[in-house]
Amino acid sequence: MKGIVLAGGNGSRLYPMTATITKQLLPIYDKPMIYYPIATLMLAGIREILLITTPKDVDRYRDLLGDGARWGLEISYATQALPNGIAQAYLIGREFVNHRPSALVLGDNLFFGSGLSRLLTSAARLAHGAHIFACRVEDPERYGVVELDAQGQPVAIVEKPQAPRSNWAVTGLYFYDGRASDMARELRPSARGELEISDLNARYLAAGELAVTRLGRGFAWLDTGTPESLNAASQFVGTLETRQGVKIACLEEIALTQGFIDVDTFARMAATAPASDYGRYLRSLLSDLEIDAAGPSLRVAG
Ligand code: G1P
Repeated sequence: MKGIVLAGGNGSRLYPMTATITKQLLPIYDKPMIYYPIATLMLAGIREILLITTPKDVDRYRDLLGDGARWGLEISYATQALPNGIAQAYLIGREFVNHRPSALVLGDNLFFGSGLSRLLTSAARLAHGAHIFACRVEDPERYGVVELDAQGQPVAIVEKPQAPRSNWAVTGLYFYDGRASDMARELRPSARGELEISDLNARYLAAGELAVTRLGRGFAWLDTGTPESLNAASQFVGTLETRQGVKIACLEEIALTQGFIDVDTFARMAATAPASDYGRYLRSLLSDLEIDAAGPSLRVAG
C-alpha cells in the first residue's frame, strides 16, 4: 500500500508562528509535527510515501526528511500550489498512487493509542472500498462529521455542519482502494471552493463501500489547528514521554521495529545523533538491544 501525507495550507490560524515556518514543521514537544503522521503510515506498514506540500515549503521538507532511506522509506515530493482541498491530493498524487490502494494522512493529525499499530495494519490490507476513522469530539462543527445508525454503520457524512447530527468527527486518516484518483476527478468544489475529502468519502458511502471504525477511549486523536490545540498536543506527548521514558513517533525506532532497517543501520544513526534528548533516547534503545542480545541474565541485571 502507498501513503500520502498532505502538509499544505498556510497555517493562518497559527500566525505569527507560521510566518516563516510552515505549520507541519512546528514542534510537537520534541520533534517536528510531520514526524507524527509519517509514523502513523509506518505503523500501517507503509514505506512508499508521497509528501504533498506548498511550492514554498517543499525544500524545507526535503532538508528534513530527504528520500527517507535512513528509515527504510521511499519519500517523494509533490506540490499543491493553492489550498484547493484535501481530495486534490488524489489528483496531484494520481501517478504515484497508480490505481493502487493507498492511505492518506493529514500532516497535522496525531494518533496515539494502545493497539493502534494492529488497527492500522489491518486497515492497510484494504483491497476494496474505503475505510475511515471517527473519534468523539465536543466540537464536531469544526470537522467532517459522520452520522451512524444504531448498528454503528455510516448513514451520512457532512463537512463542517452547522448543526452536527453526531459527535463523531472524521479523523484525517483515510484508506482507499485503487479508485480514489478516478473518484476524486468527479468531485466539484464545495461552497468554500475546495475539493472536499468528505465528498469523496460520501461517494464511497453512497456506493455502500465505506467502513467506519470508531476510535474509542483508548485512543487519542489530536489536531493542531490552533495555538491551544498545538500546545495541548505538545503537553500530551511530553507528559507521556517523560513519565514512561518512551518516545512517540520516533521514526528510527519504528523503522527498526517494523523491520524497515536492520540493527546496524539503527546503530549508526544512534551513534551519530546529536546529544539531544532524542539522540540519547536512540542510544538508550541501542544499549537495550545490546543487553537483549547478550542474554536474559544481563537484561535482568541491566
Ligand atoms: C479536514 C477535513 C475534515 C476532517 C479534519 C481532520 O479539516 O476537511 O473532514 O475532519 O481535516 O483534521 P480542516 O483541517 O481542513 O479544517
